[in-house]
Amino acid sequence: MDLPALEVDVETLVDELQELAKFSACDEPPPAVTRVVFTDVDRQARDYLKQLHRAAGLTVREDAVGNTFARWVGSDANASAVGTGSHTDAIPHAGMYDGTLGVLGGLEAIRSLQRGGFRPQRSIELVMFTSEEPTRFGVGCTGSRLISGAMAPDTLAALEDDAGNSYDQARAAAGFEGEIASAVLEHGHYTAFVELHIEQGPVLEQAGEVIGAVTAIAAPSTVAFEVTGQGGHAGGVLMPDRRDALCAVAEMIAAIEECALQSASPDLVATVGKMEVHPGAVNSIPRRVRFTLDLRDIDGANRDRVLAEILDQTNSIAARRKVEVESTVLNADPPATADARVVQAVRQAAMSLNLPFREMVSRAYHDSLFMARIAPMGMIFIPCRGGVSHRPDEYASPEHMAAGVETLALTLAQLAGGRPACT
Ligand code: GLV
Ligand code: MN
Ligand code: MN
Repeated sequence: MDLPALEVDVETLVDELQELAKFSACDEPPPAVTRVVFTDVDRQARDYLKQLHRAAGLTVREDAVGNTFARWVGSDANASAVGTGSHTDAIPHAGMYDGTLGVLGGLEAIRSLQRGGFRPQRSIELVMFTSEEPTRFGVGCTGSRLISGAMAPDTLAALEDDAGNSYDQARAAAGFEGEIASAVLEHGHYTAFVELHIEQGPVLEQAGEVIGAVTAIAAPSTVAFEVTGQGGHAGGVLMPDRRDALCAVAEMIAAIEECALQSASPDLVATVGKMEVHPGAVNSIPRRVRFTLDLRDIDGANRDRVLAEILDQTNSIAARRKVEVESTVLNADPPATADARVVQAVRQAAMSLNLPFREMVSRAYHDSLFMARIAPMGMIFIPCRGGVSHRPDEYASPEHMAAGVETLALTLAQLAGGRPACT
């Protein structure tokens, strides 16, 4: 099809990203952002977004866990919609572009099509997914897991945060009610789903390219460990008599790093990013340590092999050091493959805009990992400075964001069909 005219207003997009970044509980000012699901700042950010969505003439719906759907109704209102969107929650001390670009950039893509006079045939639905980040409940993508059927409503409801609040209680306290199961979407609700996101890696920037069409998303897993030894007085217990949980964990983390380094796949990555030492006193031997492992690979079978190896090693370290170790696999998801038709639409859009383009894999996970279970899925990446993400100095230039929004808009137009078809 001929592609529609576009007028992307990148200044407004930058202003809105900066405004959104102010809804933060971080102890540093923006661009550092902390926005944890179902907290006050999350609620305020949601209100701000809904106001923007309504100002663009979109019809807003929220489901029982706060996934927010803003629909531009097409001329064929009964046809399955084209979905786009991402998340706006942010890990502690994050930057201001991760996820937010896919939501506010998705909105700007819709507005630019509206300004260009485009009338979609299929509706275009912009989604803000609840809790893509695992910060509060240990598992990421809770909103998209639920609506895609990847996590049972009861399992989701029972997840707990560190303070012992269940997901069910937390969503109710944030004002989201109704049966959690009612949020699950039918296969076919979307004819296609496409997410715009910063790359969160260095590939595009290093190659001097502007658009990446994602062909596959790596398989993530998260494991929670609890190691219990024997506590005691830091002066009173002699070294040969100790069963120090933290010393055992130190060895386990070194073993995890070694397993990842020795893996057959260069794409396998392992991270221990969270730890809690009990009782946490200078002069007390650590009795109990909890830590998390984040393990990923494009090759799901290799990820599972390495996970088994890690569990063997942590068990034998525990046995040798006479401590107990318990491990709980919180999630071990398969990878997702993008749909050829969506990738082709992204390629077509980038080519028509003369943007340097490549196909690539996503090592980070995204809500699209789960949307792929119920819809043909694709993603559009733009470069971020130095490949930096999950840090306050995360940055995407206005030029690259404009290119990403234009590519998204033309991709949505192709997938939705409609008129006028002009260039
Ligand atoms: C998403 O934030 C991820 O950790 O990949
Ligand atoms: Mn993230
Ligand atoms: Mn993200």
